[in-house]
Amino acid sequence: MSVTIKTAREIELMREAGRLLEIVHNQLGEFIKPGITTQDIDRLGEKLIRNLGCTPNFLNYNGYPASICVSVNDEVVHGIPNSRKVLQEGDIVSLDAGLIYKGYHSDAARTYAVGAVSKEAQQLMDVTKQSFFEGIKYARPGYHLNDISTAIGAYAEKFGYGVVRDLVGHGIGTHLHEDPQIPNFRQKRRGIRLVPGMTLAIEPMINIGRADVEWMDDDWTVVTQDGSLSAHYENTVLITEGEPEILTLTR
Ligand code: MF3
Ligand code: CO
Repeated sequence: MSVTIKTAREIELMREAGRLLEIVHNQLGEFIKPGITTQDIDRLGEKLIRNLGCTPNFLNYNGYPASICVSVNDEVVHGIPNSRKVLQEGDIVSLDAGLIYKGYHSDAARTYAVGAVSKEAQQLMDVTKQSFFEGIKYARPGYHLNDISTAIGAYAEKFGYGVVRDLVGHGIGTHLHEDPQIPNFRQKRRGIRLVPGMTLAIEPMINIGRADVEWMDDDWTVVTQDGSLSAHYENTVLITEGEPEILTLTR
């Protein structure tokens, strides 16, 4: 499909989808502590989404069996919640969540510390989040998609981290995944020109070690090949005439 430009009415709906998802994420963030299972997180997340009158968009997406992707330590993304997987002090856990509000999708991810974590783990989370903000400096008219990708990758690589290459961000709207694909590292081509009304899910996935990832036997969970820690940070972003509007981060 081609890149969609949202109308004023659609932008209002995307904004609300984003605002509601931020509420879900904030409540999930407060729930994170040692001793809970990744299934507890999914159960709460699904309930929060439905209580807001929305639908979880990940549930049954290409057969994905849950509402929230919960990825611990060396799991990069798409970890499947499990009643036997208990969070331990010192873990880092990424929560990727999305919802549909009146036909419009939002998508965002956060990585949290479980109790006290190592300095190395904390720096990885901080740099991953900051790489998103480095990228969106270019999320405005006058720039091309590759300006975002280059800025994200260059920032993370300064720290010696591996920038995941096998998974990308994406356009978002009436579908969870729309064009364009948004890599988190420099491309040979400049990509599309950014114009107001585009809504983009920008989502760096960064490893402490090498960039290489592999898929587990469940065909969903993506893990680092070298077993190193990985972090994920994502927001749904609106391109405007000026500063980008982060729809899933309003405060
Ligand atoms: N933010 C993730 C992505 O864009 C959401 C995955 S949805 C899943 O790929 F259902 F496939 F898990
Ligand atoms: Co996404």
